[in-house]
Amino acid sequence: MRRAGKITAAARALAGEMVTPGVTTQEIDKAVYHFIREQGAQPSFLHYQGYPASVCISVNDEIIHGIPGKRVLQEGDIVSIDVGAYKDGFHGDCAATFPCGKISPEAQRLIDVTRQSFYEGLKFAKEGYRVPDISRAIQTYVEANGFSIVREYVGHGVGRQMHEAPEVPNYVAGHERPRLLRGMTLAVEPMVNAGSRGIRVMPDGWTVRTADGKWSAHYENTILITDGEPELLTVPEPGGE
Ligand code: MF3
Ligand code: CO
Repeated sequence: MRRAGKITAAARALAGEMVTPGVTTQEIDKAVYHFIREQGAQPSFLHYQGYPASVCISVNDEIIHGIPGKRVLQEGDIVSIDVGAYKDGFHGDCAATFPCGKISPEAQRLIDVTRQSFYEGLKFAKEGYRVPDISRAIQTYVEANGFSIVREYVGHGVGRQMHEAPEVPNYVAGHERPRLLRGMTLAVEPMVNAGSRGIRVMPDGWTVRTADGKWSAHYENTILITDGEPELLTVPEPGGE
């Protein structure tokens, strides 16, 4: 898991550095594909349930699962990069939203609140707490900042499979309340909308956008639960996430 996580985080950083005005999303996807293969790993997302690329790239009002293509990134866009790598039998999974050139203060606040909400959840990611303790911390922080949490998609266990039990929702509802135990590896991934929480899935069958057209951000790391501080397996690189 550590080896997979390291490659996945480096792929995110590479993609993030490429987020600049004039680049196409498929150029980023191609670079990430080659990087992951050079590391002796496989892109986890490629062909997953028919997904056609190595990275999900979701721009502005796109929340998740944007398919890379000929779209040219523009100054002021916010660009969510989600990537997974499979190495020696295990998956890493991580995401972050990057600014393209100079962005508006409100867009930057959306990115910052989304990232910080992950770290609020992380405070409860240790043995002795339960999954909904993570969920509650994320939800409380996001809603206190006036943004909303997407509910149709959630974090998850990650390991030999990209998606394993338990689900890790970013909101509290009447779900099960699984205990966190040392050795569990989880992908914690708040998806945060600037406006209301409603979503729409596009006709391509993948791209998920906000229903109200307002912008959305995403932040995700793969973490290891211990009896003390959690270990980040997709270690963010300074500035590059
Ligand atoms: N990265 C997503 C997750 O965090 C899964 C991507 S779906 C895929 O769960 F089809 F794009 F791979
Ligand atoms: Co995930």
